Amino acid sequence: HVRETGGAAAAGGEAGAAEPAPVTVGLIPTMGALHEGHATLIRRALEQNDVVAVSIFVNPLQFGPGEDYESYPRPLEADLQMLRDLGVDLAFVPERETMYPGGRPLVSLSSGELGTRFEGASRPGHFDGVLTVVAKLFNLFVAAAGPHRVRAYFGQKDAQQVAIVQRLVADLNVPVTIVPVAIVREEGGLAMSSRNTYLDEESRRAALVLSRTLALLREEGLSRGYAGIDLESARSRIEERDGVELDYLEIVDPSTFDAPTEASTRAMAMAAIRVGGTRLIDNMDVL
Ligand code: PAJ
Repeated sequence: HVRETGGAAAAGGEAGAAEPAPVTVGLIPTMGALHEGHATLIRRALEQNDVVAVSIFVNPLQFGPGEDYESYPRPLEADLQMLRDLGVDLAFVPERETMYPGGRPLVSLSSGELGTRFEGASRPGHFDGVLTVVAKLFNLFVAAAGPHRVRAYFGQKDAQQVAIVQRLVADLNVPVTIVPVAIVREEGGLAMSSRNTYLDEESRRAALVLSRTLALLREEGLSRGYAGIDLESARSRIEERDGVELDYLEIVDPSTFDAPTEASTRAMAMAAIRVGGTRLIDNMDVL
């Protein structure tokens, strides 16, 4: 049993003094361009931890060639102001050279077969890049706070990311607790995303077909069972919307990302579309 915190008392201060309670740290990894989705993760962390840290780092490893690494929004001053207003204790905003001295790391992580499906099929290497930066952040914060003192918050909007990060923690014995947080949506239903800033008014309207179709599938699934869902007509509904291209729409068991089985306790419809050059993802439980 090792104490990591507590200053003088931990260093053997006054005899008989009560040991200070261990400090827990809530960590919210982000790429900035913060919105209400991020704020919801942060508020949850503020409720559950003594100290809350937000990292802002546009991680080059998780962007493919031709993706939006260069143009990804970086409104740093506004982001920092939002963190101050929320009462966040620490913003960690490393330079690229600090995270990846000399370019790319020699040793990195592989997200395996799960990392090649759905988002990973459209974005080869994406989840390996996510895992590598997340593992670095976990190591930095565990080094500072101690094992089993860090809770890391991830949004269900990126359901496959949550699943892969949970496997990182399980498979490599990382002493961090992952806390998934439900999707935060705009009033019309569009899932909040930093990439929504790329959408003009028309694309924003067209993008609504994504959350609306998922909501219909949810209704169908909850009333008739997910096996009764007509995925083909849902796919056509999306494809027929002007300006929208469907990447994929599938129903999976979110514990495996395989097709749900009799034994599944959850089934999730997940989809990705492209609207005017912007790729958007969303998901909803249908069981
Ligand atoms: P980013 O897209 O900035 O998202 C940071 C966190 O906020 C992720 O866990 C994401 O799922 C969550 N989030 C974004 N929009 C949300 C919404 N509408 N509702 C709920 N949660 C939402 O995801 C990343 O950054 C990166 O891949 C990262 C994990 C930081 C690694 O680089």
